[in-house]
Amino acid sequence: MSERKMITAALPYANGPVHIGHLAGVYIPADVYARFQRRLGKEVAFICGSDEHGIPITIRAKKEGVTPQNIVDKYHEVIRKSFMDLGISFDEYSRTTSKKHYEVSQDFFTTLYNKDKFTEEVSEQYFDEQAGEFLADRYIVGTCPNCGNDGAYGDQCEKCGSTLSPSELLKPKSMLSGNVPVLKETKNWYLPLNEYEDFLNEWIIEGHKDDWKPNVYGQVKSWLNDGLKPRAMTRDLNWGVPVPLPDADGKVLYVWFDAPIGYISFTQEWAEKNGKDWKDYWQNENSDLIHFIGKDNIVFHCIIFPAMMKAHGGYIMPTNVPAFEFLNLENDKISTSRNWAVWAHEYVEEFPGQQDVLRFTLLSSAPETKDNNFTWKDFQTKNNSELVGIFGNFINRVAVLIHKYYGGVVPQGDVNAPELEEIAKAANEIETFLENFEFRNALSSLMNLARFGNQFLQTEEPWKTIKDNPEKAAHSLFIAAQIAVGLAQTSEPFMPFSSEKLLKMFNVPQITWKEIASDKILIETGHQINTAELLFSRVEDETIEFQIRKLENTKESNKKTNPNANPMKDEIQFDDFTKIDLRTATILTAEKVEKADKLLKFTVDTGVDVRTVVSGIAESFTPEECIGKQVMILLNLAPRKIRGIESQGMLLLATKPDGKLTFMSPEAEVDNGIEVS
Ligand code: 2FM
Ligand code: ZN
Repeated sequence: MSERKMITAALPYANGPVHIGHLAGVYIPADVYARFQRRLGKEVAFICGSDEHGIPITIRAKKEGVTPQNIVDKYHEVIRKSFMDLGISFDEYSRTTSKKHYEVSQDFFTTLYNKDKFTEEVSEQYFDEQAGEFLADRYIVGTCPNCGNDGAYGDQCEKCGSTLSPSELLKPKSMLSGNVPVLKETKNWYLPLNEYEDFLNEWIIEGHKDDWKPNVYGQVKSWLNDGLKPRAMTRDLNWGVPVPLPDADGKVLYVWFDAPIGYISFTQEWAEKNGKDWKDYWQNENSDLIHFIGKDNIVFHCIIFPAMMKAHGGYIMPTNVPAFEFLNLENDKISTSRNWAVWAHEYVEEFPGQQDVLRFTLLSSAPETKDNNFTWKDFQTKNNSELVGIFGNFINRVAVLIHKYYGGVVPQGDVNAPELEEIAKAANEIETFLENFEFRNALSSLMNLARFGNQFLQTEEPWKTIKDNPEKAAHSLFIAAQIAVGLAQTSEPFMPFSSEKLLKMFNVPQITWKEIASDKILIETGHQINTAELLFSRVEDETIEFQIRKLENTKESNKKTNPNANPMKDEIQFDDFTKIDLRTATILTAEKVEKADKLLKFTVDTGVDVRTVVSGIAESFTPEECIGKQVMILLNLAPRKIRGIESQGMLLLATKPDGKLTFMSPEAEVDNGIEVS
């Protein structure tokens, strides 16, 4: 067993916040594992950071009309804060736009280049002549050759799900300019992955048949069976780490080349700040490298990154890559673009102080071996029956009874009682499960200890025996106190916030895992405990209904072509419509209304008469801009006084995306007074 654990969690793209799928499938299990290894006394480096390059980021920036740097600055902070709020105990959370990362990833590339590990290949890529840029596959849209969808992307058709290459698209168009792109030759540097097949076969297929998860092993095997091909490690893009070669203007490192190197550069940043040697973690056989990832990242962490490290030389290979499957939400795939998600930052705001409830529920339905499902109903049940009903209830009873009968001082009991073995048993089981990445089983062992404690109290009934057999009552509460502290200690990797509260409540320090499992007394007779504090509270039906409604509203607004559009008003009859007298009209004069910033006063030629109309649009137009405009007016609206001026009718306007108003004007000039129908 190695003394050091180099634990990484997949770098989240900084193009949006993180959701429960990310948390359940990577960050919470990784955190449990890291916390647990620290308790075992291992030297742990738990490293992560934001993945700030790549096409999803430039696409989001284009959509929002801002720079990629603006996007990553915003989401890096949102993501970092969510992780912190949820107690994800990274030793370092950095970002791939850091100076150090540029240096380390460029050095890595240069080493491979100097060792002649790349092949140079010239290929034809689509180029947008107007934008003067090569186009990433995602930036080309066209018609899908398989289903005819004319919004298919150069890498994928989202309608029929087929994987495409840009050359397969019919009628390709550049998303940058809308023009037809041309094919142009470009040189890039490739890593010949085929040359690493023997190494990968030996290391994974022969070496990790029994200790890697079947889903990971199976995927790697299928990639290797299909045969590997050289893969470009550089791209023609302007957002990323520049390729450190003289003839590489306009080229950056492939995002999947620089991102995993992020693990190394962030470890270096951490090591520099903490007086550590990063090489002890990455280049020493006495270190275990463990990558926590989602299943879509398997090829990058089990094939490409290991091949890069092998090509570089000096690096250890991952000991294990516990990849998780996906989490669904209310039986539907989590989708960022459809907003079908429970966002980490929103949870933290809406459920203050209840981080452990989310950690617990997500761990208990972690998609370890197959896709799993999160429902709010299940969240409520797990909270109310397990955390409140079993765990919290037991702890609370122990603390309250010790205060009630013994003034908060732990009474005397038999230190050799067989029940005490349950604590070591739970600690040992948790250890075995966690070493094997079986988080759900580990959590069950923890809950079984709480269940045992509850049953023990129920059978012993110290509140009854206290009258006739006080010695027995004292013994019962002595044992119960040991179990409660056992829970305080062993719950820490899973529920760190509650564990901290519990340790304070029982007034004991955190001890190592070995000490918990050593059959030692965890809280001595005579020890003063603090007052009981409520650990968990019931989640009420209204809370769950609110969350479900919130999701359903998302579904409703997804059906709209414009999610900002208000729902339709009540249906009316044609007769109702004919009552409305809409006409074309021309604004003759316009002036500001004194002491009313928002109002403009108009005289309008309606074809029927010349009349006065007052309108609250001064924040969108100057009077001069309005004069001479042909507009539409609601002619038969009953007159009303606005700031002492009688307004006779209403001009029709709509709000633009920037919040300013625009007149609803006829497309061609027409006479005034023409009815609109
Ligand atoms: O799939 C993703 O979200 C990637 N940003 C993961 C990168 S992990 C690593 F290699 F850095
Ligand atoms: Zn298609």
